[in-house]
Amino acid sequence: MKVHLTRRYHFSASHRLYSTELSEEENRKLYGKCANPYGHGHNYAVEVTVAGPVEPATGMVANLVELDAFVAREVVEPFDHKYLNEEVGEFRVAVPTTENLCREIYRRLKDFPTARLAGVRIEETAANSFEYRGETREVQ
Ligand code: NI
Repeated sequence: MKVHLTRRYHFSASHRLYSTELSEEENRKLYGKCANPYGHGHNYAVEVTVAGPVEPATGMVANLVELDAFVAREVVEPFDHKYLNEEVGEFRVAVPTTENLCREIYRRLKDFPTARLAGVRIEETAANSFEYRGETREVQ
């Protein structure tokens, strides 16, 4: 018997959508004002879902104190109030779209020790959300 647990976290960060493989004009055409040179910010909401059996002794899938500490260390502290393009190593290479943010946050959380990471969902704005569930679940 498996239960999914989802917990919501927040961080604020700035980014610029700009690919070094494209010209200035192509970037402007593709990303519009999101390619403006000085960047812009978002208040991101991140939902982290872990899954596993309910531990009989505790009645829990995962200890929320442990999950909170893990997410704080791996994601919230390194990302909060940062310029993602410069201050998070992955985004010196990859464009910090929310799609790539989902994948990077998933990568950082996938070794959570007490329950399996089942997915990462990010709300970038009230209108946009993105979700990544890892490669093995994608084919299911
Ligand atoms: Ni943006």
